[in-house]
Amino acid sequence: MNYYKISNLESYFKAYKKSVKEPENFWGEIADENFTWYQKWDKVLDYDMINADIKWFVNGKVNIVKNCIDRHLNKRGNKTAIIFEPNNPDEAAQHITYLELHERVCRMANVLKDKGIKKGDRVCIYLPMIPELAVSLLACARIGAIHSVVFAGFSASAVASRITDSECKMVITSDGAYRGNKSIDLKGIVDEALEKCPSVESVLVVKRTNTDVRMKEGRDQWIQPLLDAAAKDNVAEIMDAEDPLFILYTSGSTGKPKGMVHTTAGYMVYTAFTFKNIFNYKEHDIYWCTADIGWITGHSYIVYGPLLNGATTVIFEGVPSYPDFSRFWDVIDKHKINQFYTAPTAIRALAKENLSYVENHDLSSIKVLGSVGEPINEEAWHWYNNHVGRKTSPITDTWWQTETGGIMIAPLPFITPTKPTYATLPLPGIQPVLMDDRRNEIEDNQVVGSLCIKYPWPGIARTIWGDHQRFIDTYFSAFPGKYFTGDGALRDEVGYYRITGRVDDVVIVSGHNLGTAPIEDAINEHPAVAESAIVGFPHDVKGNALYGFITLKEVGEYRDRANLTKEINEHISSHIGPIAKLDKIQFVSGLPKTRSGKIMRRILRKIAEGDFSNFGDTSTLLNPEIVDEIKNERID
Ligand code: WTA
Repeated sequence: MNYYKISNLESYFKAYKKSVKEPENFWGEIADENFTWYQKWDKVLDYDMINADIKWFVNGKVNIVKNCIDRHLNKRGNKTAIIFEPNNPDEAAQHITYLELHERVCRMANVLKDKGIKKGDRVCIYLPMIPELAVSLLACARIGAIHSVVFAGFSASAVASRITDSECKMVITSDGAYRGNKSIDLKGIVDEALEKCPSVESVLVVKRTNTDVRMKEGRDQWIQPLLDAAAKDNVAEIMDAEDPLFILYTSGSTGKPKGMVHTTAGYMVYTAFTFKNIFNYKEHDIYWCTADIGWITGHSYIVYGPLLNGATTVIFEGVPSYPDFSRFWDVIDKHKINQFYTAPTAIRALAKENLSYVENHDLSSIKVLGSVGEPINEEAWHWYNNHVGRKTSPITDTWWQTETGGIMIAPLPFITPTKPTYATLPLPGIQPVLMDDRRNEIEDNQVVGSLCIKYPWPGIARTIWGDHQRFIDTYFSAFPGKYFTGDGALRDEVGYYRITGRVDDVVIVSGHNLGTAPIEDAINEHPAVAESAIVGFPHDVKGNALYGFITLKEVGEYRDRANLTKEINEHISSHIGPIAKLDKIQFVSGLPKTRSGKIMRRILRKIAEGDFSNFGDTSTLLNPEIVDEIKNERID
């Protein structure tokens, strides 16, 4: 039996059973039969879930880019690997074949080497959604450099802290980025960031918007002349299975962002396997994931997963609302998209618009729909099913995380019966458990618990860059011996999982993970602010939005609250990025605190939600009277 492609429910259960009973044989066979290795592994898995020391395909030697591109060249050289759909629909789309992609990646790899980038060096990539973004990732991986993509919506100080944390030697960026009817000065943001980044020796700049930029002598160079001069072939580096492939920063519930480290072979096997099964990809299909490559969804399911399967993947530079709300449907119609993967927040935003936007397009090419990033509410699920899937294309609601590398719980299209709001069944190899507050496994149905995974899978992140102890503390300590996801979930009577949301101080806004602590840190730097507490509250389109409770040092010169509100949001924008702005800001005379000085966020969360029914035990509060004041002045 070929476990790589599961064909029906019976074979799903068979594969699942084997993956639990004989995990090493299960993954070993998949790895053996579906990839090109320089050298096979000595042992499939070596692990210690207490010290978070996990190794897959021990001593195997491989290059992921050889598997993404080179091995397809004989059979699929002239097949389109990437379709680039520009921000402006009047600009022609580009079709890049596997042969062309090979050449572009090799040239870029040679440029990086010429600039002194070696195996193990970190390269920061800060680019818009243009082909060079995928090419940069692949060029790094080809020569063994570790890429650290920073989403091109982050501010200079967010870029700077990510570059410094992993001591990147190089930054690849562009003169600017198009986003709907705006253009963003990416190079200017990089220049500002680099004032604080001594590790960066060189900056390569892609020309995209043709805007004037400052080029720092001896540091900055336009990339195109270098690519033109570079050789078009490149010998890929032989990588150890556990060599780091990339770092991707994700918000933590406390402190600075966590540089999640993914390694080579396990990530390769897991993203390829999950892509194949979850999207039911067939040889001539055109697949489109609307995420940005700056997030894990783009890494795993725009670049690596699809290319490992020899698929055609779309890179979309634009936004769903430009030039109007029919853009997604227009692109589906234009490129005859077969698999479409997007986020609930986009679905909710588009569902609010006139139905004619979607109805005026031919969406009959669609076979499978995907959802990712946050729980999909029932209404959005039905709208997606009725209007985009025409009730014939299954929706796969995919639950996973930056840390998991690939999709963990999701229905397999045409195999697992779907159920709105349920991510349904775990993929083979994934052993979820729900834990109660006493650290006991919950056996009952319909009881919410902390979602943990009790056995390693190949795609799991291996560490946090430079801080393994934080990796252990964050993910392996709450429930010793298990990986703790930070999410709550319940199980129904047939074993389907429903993710209920974060149980920590991370809020998912429009599908983006935002830690409340870093936002609070940013706000607290404002001269007027004494203290702040940020919580999430439900929002129609964004899923969640942010509510800030803020105490001021001296009211004096900040009497104008509207102005101060604006200033605080600008402050957040420049420290983190516009995505972290607060929807509501309430100035309060104090925050509810326990006697040990901890802010009682549980109460603030309820107030923000407008639920005054039961604040739970407030007897431990130092200042219980403050609750009424905050409640009475709540912003609606
Ligand atoms: C949430 C994105 C419900 C969850 C791939 C998780 C989801 C966090 C779903 C990770 C889903 C993602 N249903 N919740 N289908 N998918 N989440 O790291 O809270 O950006 O922990 O990875 O998003 O977000 P991240």
